[in-house]
Amino acid sequence: MSKKPVRVAVTGAAGQIGYALLFRIASGEMLGKDQPVILQLLEIPDEKAQNALKGVIMELEDCAFPLLAGIEAHSDPMTAFKDTDYALLVGARPRGPGMERADLLAANAQIFTVQGKALNAVASRDVRVLVVGNPANTNAYIAMKSAPDLPRKNFTAMLRLDHNRAASQIATKTGKAVAGIEKLAVWGNHSPTMYADYRNATIDGQPVKALINDEQWNREVFLPTVGKRGAAIIAARGLSSAASAANAAIDHMRDWALGTNGKWVTMGIPSNGEYGIPKDVMFGYPVTCEGGEYKIVEGIAIDEFSQECINKTLKELMDEQDGVKHLL
Ligand code: NAD
Ligand code: LMR
Repeated sequence: MSKKPVRVAVTGAAGQIGYALLFRIASGEMLGKDQPVILQLLEIPDEKAQNALKGVIMELEDCAFPLLAGIEAHSDPMTAFKDTDYALLVGARPRGPGMERADLLAANAQIFTVQGKALNAVASRDVRVLVVGNPANTNAYIAMKSAPDLPRKNFTAMLRLDHNRAASQIATKTGKAVAGIEKLAVWGNHSPTMYADYRNATIDGQPVKALINDEQWNREVFLPTVGKRGAAIIAARGLSSAASAANAAIDHMRDWALGTNGKWVTMGIPSNGEYGIPKDVMFGYPVTCEGGEYKIVEGIAIDEFSQECINKTLKELMDEQDGVKHLL
């Protein structure tokens, strides 16, 4: 018997990430090749954006995806999020050259108050939310705080792009395939302060730290390369990452919904105090997923350098939270 369709809302649906994301959701790459989906697409009311959205919808129709059970175009989050089971909040201003993601807070924070309230009012009580729009952690925090009737744990921020970037750098450095990496973690904020941590990682079963055996490379090459990858892409393309961001969003939601088989992945999730992070801070943690739920990997030893890195990214998140207090 075929499964009942689930409702997937995507905001910023006519933007560059939207264009790289929707076709993959509709083809079953996110929720499984047996799971029909209804897309609930949100764009700003502006005529140009709505027209662009119409064009994207025409293309989705022209793909004749067997799993695409319906497509809706919206300009109001109160209709776009009605009964939605999954919400991918992508729509927000991207940064340009010379900006940090935190510079977007003033421009984008308000969007997530409005959308958090709309989710609270009309979404499925079990909706799973991924915030991609930057600064992703703090926007996810705002959305969560604006939706008091929904489970806190169902609001998440995208750190998966940092995780995938770190995995790719490690694979290149060790000359091994990226698929062999296990137990990689990225802690904290989706910003240059994030701490990509391969101390426990293995590749093809061998310890990554021993294989690389170069602490200077870790601190002076690996961490800055992963942390500043977004800016490097903006400098090269003139536009922020889109295909890799959409891919990370698919990875995040797929793993959350379908499980990781014990593999560690990174999600930005509200803390319950784990590893000394204050409650509610939307923090990147290593997690495993099973049965539609994520679980923080516990018991990882935190050495002095790691603690310094975690403190730095935490401080940045606390400062960002402080800057949006007036919205909550
Ligand atoms: P884009 O400008 O191409 O598209 C954004 C779209 O969102 C536009 O079509 C715009 O009309 C729409 N939009 C703006 N406000 C909206 C609202 N209130 N409701 C619905 N739609 C709205 O930008 P993009 O390249 O697709 O990037 C989108 C966001 O994702 C940016 O904030 C970017 O910085 C962020 N991003 C995050 C990550 C991550 O790893 N977390 C990675 C890449 C990009
Ligand atoms: C990225 O990491 O590529 C995105 O967050 C976009 C950006 O502004 O860097």
